[in-house]
Amino acid sequence: MKKLRSQAWFGGTSKDAFMHRSWMKNQGMPADAFDGRPVIGICNTWSELTPCNAHLRDLAERVKRGVYEAGGLPLEFPVMSLGESNMRPTAMLYRNLASMDVEESIRANPLDGVVLLVGCDKTTPALVMGAASCDLPTIVLSGGPMLNGNYRGESIGSGTVVWRYNEEVKAGRMSVDEFMAAEAGMSRSAGSCMTMGTASTMASMAEALGIALPQNAAIPAVDARRHALSQLTGRRIVEMVQEDLTLSKILTPQAFQNAIRVNGAIGGSTNAVLHLIAIARRVGLDLGLDDWDRFGRDVPTIVDLQPSGRFLMEEFYYAGGLPAVMRALGEHGLLNRDAPTVTGRSAWENVADAPNYNRDVIRDFDNALAEQGGIAVLRGNLAPQGAVLKPSAATPALMTHRGRAVVFETIEDYKRRIVDPDLDIDADCVMVLKNCGPRGYPGMAEVGNMGLPPKLLAQGVSDMVRISDARMSGTAYGTVVLHVAPEAAAGGPLALVREGDIVELDVPGRRLHLEVSDEELARRRAGWQPPVPPASGYQSLYVQNVLQADEGADFGFLAGPRGAGIPRNSH
Ligand code: FES
Ligand code: MG
Repeated sequence: MKKLRSQAWFGGTSKDAFMHRSWMKNQGMPADAFDGRPVIGICNTWSELTPCNAHLRDLAERVKRGVYEAGGLPLEFPVMSLGESNMRPTAMLYRNLASMDVEESIRANPLDGVVLLVGCDKTTPALVMGAASCDLPTIVLSGGPMLNGNYRGESIGSGTVVWRYNEEVKAGRMSVDEFMAAEAGMSRSAGSCMTMGTASTMASMAEALGIALPQNAAIPAVDARRHALSQLTGRRIVEMVQEDLTLSKILTPQAFQNAIRVNGAIGGSTNAVLHLIAIARRVGLDLGLDDWDRFGRDVPTIVDLQPSGRFLMEEFYYAGGLPAVMRALGEHGLLNRDAPTVTGRSAWENVADAPNYNRDVIRDFDNALAEQGGIAVLRGNLAPQGAVLKPSAATPALMTHRGRAVVFETIEDYKRRIVDPDLDIDADCVMVLKNCGPRGYPGMAEVGNMGLPPKLLAQGVSDMVRISDARMSGTAYGTVVLHVAPEAAAGGPLALVREGDIVELDVPGRRLHLEVSDEELARRRAGWQPPVPPASGYQSLYVQNVLQADEGADFGFLAGPRGAGIPRNSH
């Protein structure tokens, strides 16, 4: 085995080696801890402010057992944790910041390999992005989903039920007391959202990319098998260091194609579009929206999970989990079978014998939930650089639609006017929301699935076409066009839409069109004022450097790998 990176710190008899070792020994480490064995960083997003990751210190201890068993030295370290449920204006504003924390923490320290402990939505992409820019041997361990929510004896899903119950309350079909009582029932164990929201989607993406062990996505957080998986992850990262199995050897174009197809098959979150593009760009790959449409288009959604379908992550695991899905894709020619993975085996070798125990939950291809389950990428004069829509969560009858625009300049404008009984809106209108993109919010908040007007909900309207430069929660649903690029705050045509304009949505034709002449748009553009950017602080760095949604909303200066070369001495 080649000399390990950590030996540049811990090896030899220099005064620098003395310093690096001596201070570490204050933790009670014996001398042979520094004898050249693999040093494994356990990059932990544990935080009590990130409830979905609050159990990760326990998993870190399990990882350490595995690292010790395999002859490595585990060293746990904290990085910025991003809690989706608490952080304002949106956790997404901090994804790139956290990725910088991760990248610099890895490179600056005596590490040979890394375990990424993730869970809540943004923690997964942030850590993978940072680690990808370093390119050490790296493995992802997700915290796992919560047990199914339960209220009044009914299974209820994280997030999805919030959107649904909120509309029920507004429509007068549920009391506020009942609504409040559902709170404690929804989140009743450790873990992340147990719908196929962004956390479960990104855990699935990690497994599909081949950078996590099989079953990483679905084992419930509190299931003993999650502990066993943690220990096995610890064992495996030591071997990966010995094999020099770095992240870039696994994050190939073939791996991303597999992940895009898996996203279609699981009815995964639209947020995965941004995150996978951003991760790919960190390893120097040019993944774009067209790849999402090309590779995802003909993939049926076969996993019947909320928000697209009925079940939750517990049922998904008991039915066989992601290996059963990847096996089905492989059997239908929709998997790059040879893609390498962290197990040391190929994607296909990992899943070739995976059982499917419940074909209501993981359906057969000829009984799919949606025949074209992939993310639809729309373009047109309203979204020259693209926009996305999740067909499996949308209403089929609205997939081709023409309607009059009702325009909201900001989310506050929306909140103020949507409750107005005199708002001039009907079920055929198209709700347009501006200034919620990466620069505009800033941080691209999850407000794109704006709730319908209460007066229409009371009439029984359950879906309308909505268009914005925002994102939506992976737990949300509806005929919602998201990630419009360029965004309004960057001067995209979305900024020019006015009340009463006619908007045409044609999902089969992949078109999003504003029926306003080029001349009129040019006139409106001449009168458009860009928003005033924040003058200082992190938000000004963010607004100045963030790329548009079609490029993954990473910072331009973070693109590409920078490796984990050994920095110069500190003293
Ligand atoms: Fe953390 Fe959903 S809020 S995973
Ligand atoms: Mg979210």
